[in-house]
Amino acid sequence: MNAYPIDLRSDTVTRPSPGMRAAMAAAEVGDDVYGDDPTVNRLQAHMAERFGFESALFFTSGTQSNLAALMAHCGRGDEYLVGQDAHTYKYEQGGAAVLGSIQPQPLENEPDGGISLERIAKAIKPDDIHFARTRLLALENTIGGRVLPPAYQRDVTEFAHANGLSTHLDGARIFNAIVKLEVGEKTAVAGFDSVSVCLSKGLGAPAGSVLVGPRDFIAQARRWRKALGGGMRQAGVLAAAALYALDHHVQRLADDHANAAYLAAGLNALGLHVEPPQTNILYVDIPAKQVPALTAHLAQRGILATITPRTRLVTHLDLPREKIDTTLQAFREFPDLIP
Ligand SMILES: Cc1ncc(COP(=O)(O)O)c(C=O)c1O
Repeated sequence: MNAYPIDLRSDTVTRPSPGMRAAMAAAEVGDDVYGDDPTVNRLQAHMAERFGFESALFFTSGTQSNLAALMAHCGRGDEYLVGQDAHTYKYEQGGAAVLGSIQPQPLENEPDGGISLERIAKAIKPDDIHFARTRLLALENTIGGRVLPPAYQRDVTEFAHANGLSTHLDGARIFNAIVKLEVGEKTAVAGFDSVSVCLSKGLGAPAGSVLVGPRDFIAQARRWRKALGGGMRQAGVLAAAALYALDHHVQRLADDHANAAYLAAGLNALGLHVEPPQTNILYVDIPAKQVPALTAHLAQRGILATITPRTRLVTHLDLPREKIDTTLQAFREFPDLIP
């Protein structure tokens, strides 16, 4: 593990631990397109139960899970309301429009990551031949490392339902919110009709996301998953990694949050402006003229980070405290960091 660089680019960069690899090697498998993989079936049953939904489906990735969910909620020519900063809108190549024939209606995110009820109300189109049918509100939690306020979540999902919309949550990092808020899974996703949960981010599995929702909705998503090329065969080796992660890597997310806070405090002490992190993602301002030199300086010390004027740094399973100390030392050794 020490041969690997210190990698702050994302929490997706973790390697499966020996325990996780052993679980993968021992997995019972079958052809999951036929529904025959016992480990996939166990993962799906576990996730449905854990999040309080009727059914669940294992996907190759969060992008695929979100897209199949949007396609199961919306038909051709329908519209979904989504934040400008949301992954499904901004970072998934517009898949909902390109592959799903769904019109996105992007709305400004508030500083806390939500979308105001006023904005949502204004964006819902009347039933009129000129307009797309507004069908769905999609939110994200955590979003840019921020946890959606629970009171807002309650209000916005009630408001959406009262206005005839369904609700989808991109919960790629919902376990970070769960650990931060110290709430149960069912409470954390209350009000959403479907949730996509990633296993390959903070939880440390090599691949996979699970979509949870009502039985009929998941049956429709299963059809779209096949069309999207996501019908995997002996996927139990991946589901076993996910089950291992769910057993061993949830509560320890608190360490990642503490490490992000520690890193933020250290960078702040160097005079840098840091947005205080709520979970495992922090943003720090780097003077634009220092970006190339700082990138090279860190790389020379075996530290990978996507340095930009608004640099995102992410803590995770493979970054114990001593690696955060090494990172801070490297920042300290960089000359002329502050303009
Ligand atoms: C919030 C969020 N949603 C969805 C995804 C997509 O997940 P994947 O990379 O597995 O497609 C990501 C990936 O980083 C993400 O951060």
